[in-house]
Amino acid sequence: MMGSSTWLLAVALSLVASSAVAAEPHNERVFQWNIVEYEWPNQTVKDEAISSGMYKPQNSAINGIKLYNKRVFVTVPRLKEGVPSTLNEIVTSSGGSHVLRPYPSWDMQTIGDCAALQNVQSMEIDLEAGHMWIVDTGYRNKSALVQPIDVCLPKIIIYDIVNNREIHRYTFPKLTVGYGLFYLNDVVLSYHNGSARYAFISDTLDYKLVVYDYRMDTSYTYTHPSMQADQQYENITIANMTITGLITGINGIAMSPDFRYVYYSSVAGVGIYQIETSVLTSSQGNSGAFAAAVRHLGNKEWPGDGMAYGAKHNLYYSSLGNNAVYKWDIRHDLTDVDGNLDTVQLTTTSIVHTDDDLEWVDTLCLAEDGYLWFTTSKLVKFFSQDGITATEPNFIVWKVFVNDYNYMDKTWNEQTQGASGLCAYPFLLLVCLILSKGFEA
Ligand SMILES: *[C@@H]1O[C@H](CO)[C@@H](O)[C@H](O)[C@H]1NC(C)=O
Ligand SMILES: *[C@@H]1O[C@H](CO)[C@@H](O)[C@H](O)[C@H]1NC(C)=O
Ligand SMILES: *[C@@H]1O[C@H](CO)[C@@H](O)[C@H](O)[C@H]1NC(C)=O
Ligand SMILES: *[C@@H]1O[C@H](CO)[C@@H](O)[C@H](O)[C@H]1NC(C)=O
Ligand SMILES: *[C@@H]1O[C@H](CO)[C@@H](O)[C@H](O)[C@H]1NC(C)=O
Repeated sequence: MMGSSTWLLAVALSLVASSAVAAEPHNERVFQWNIVEYEWPNQTVKDEAISSGMYKPQNSAINGIKLYNKRVFVTVPRLKEGVPSTLNEIVTSSGGSHVLRPYPSWDMQTIGDCAALQNVQSMEIDLEAGHMWIVDTGYRNKSALVQPIDVCLPKIIIYDIVNNREIHRYTFPKLTVGYGLFYLNDVVLSYHNGSARYAFISDTLDYKLVVYDYRMDTSYTYTHPSMQADQQYENITIANMTITGLITGINGIAMSPDFRYVYYSSVAGVGIYQIETSVLTSSQGNSGAFAAAVRHLGNKEWPGDGMAYGAKHNLYYSSLGNNAVYKWDIRHDLTDVDGNLDTVQLTTTSIVHTDDDLEWVDTLCLAEDGYLWFTTSKLVKFFSQDGITATEPNFIVWKVFVNDYNYMDKTWNEQTQGASGLCAYPFLLLVCLILSKGFEA
């Protein structure tokens, strides 16, 4: 543990840093595209990709987003045909526009090559190690005549962003993920003994919570009614267009900064649920143990997609019906229950940002700059008969200043260790000082 004078200095510096950041725009569109543009080797390759149908320009929708050292990575899940690259980094082209550069390479985007990435909806970056955990839901050949054939099984690839090399890969056995409908959607990590060990993944179409244990190189799953799609929320209307018959269950998933709790919610549904990480990692897929421990925290205002939990104990979540991002101020509600995260209920929520152009807030990510970054993907229009309109912005990367940080952000977590994770809250500073002094003694 740091000496308390060093600690005070760190707090003072971070306060200075956050007020400096606050002078920047409170919110802005960082990037936007009418049609998603990729960085092709040259025009010939691009033209050939279009004429062969390998690239159908209107069929790419940016969904997932994660940041690392100011680098912005986005996914384009293969929701329709003709998506040339499913995992990408946003770069500036020689012409000055923003384009998607396939990550880690074009070769890793080949459909039907099971060694390559097939269909990536989400990834998570272990900020400590600089490793990206890429969740690939695999490839099913939908043009095969009778049943879609699982050509490439779902997998996880752990990739070192700093040194550009693959660290590890794990292929899910069909008994864990697969047979019939499944879709690996969103992912969070937890650290054990100082390094990332577990990935928790939502399976939106088979209604499962999947756990991958990196150290044991194994996986198991849990099922529970809270992970299903609630028929009451099967239709979602955005900008006068309705998507009907949604069967999408558990999707948004979030992790507390002390790695003690996992939070999740369904797309077709409004409940937010909490389960202790230790139950997930010790019960080896026993859904009875899951049912005994899971907690319904309350209901969101609207159905939503992604979620993110901040280092300062706020849960941010997408709101689809009213084009918004909400925040649940957990610290506020904790005062009603003497700071007990095992009994706190979702009560104090507020809108962080809303805008007519927030059409389908998709994935959220807290970055090192105190901003909440997120994508909007216009999925209702994208899935409509005519698809998107090429003359208006469809895919937007936004950022909103929330003065909060990623759950893995060590600068915040170090300050909070040993004092119930709430020391970042100014009025508790004194208590934390006393506590940290106490722990040092
Ligand atoms: C375009 O790029 C491809 C792939 O890198 C290469 O084979 C081809 O020679 C290039 N064509 C031109 C005209 O530069
Ligand atoms: C998908 O299936 C169709 C029909 O069986 C076949 O022609 C095509 O080659 C398959 N594509 C891949 C990438 O396996
Ligand atoms: C924790 O990590 C250290 C250093 O990597 C290792 O030596 C030790 O065995 C680990 N402990 C457990 C319980 O895994
Ligand atoms: C959803 O829309 C369909 C088609 O319009 C309709 O039949 C169904 O009743 C709607 N479901 C709900 C829960 O409103
Ligand atoms: C939705 O429809 C109403 C009534 O026709 C219209 O006034 C409004 O501008 C439309 N909104 C959008 C976002 O298209």
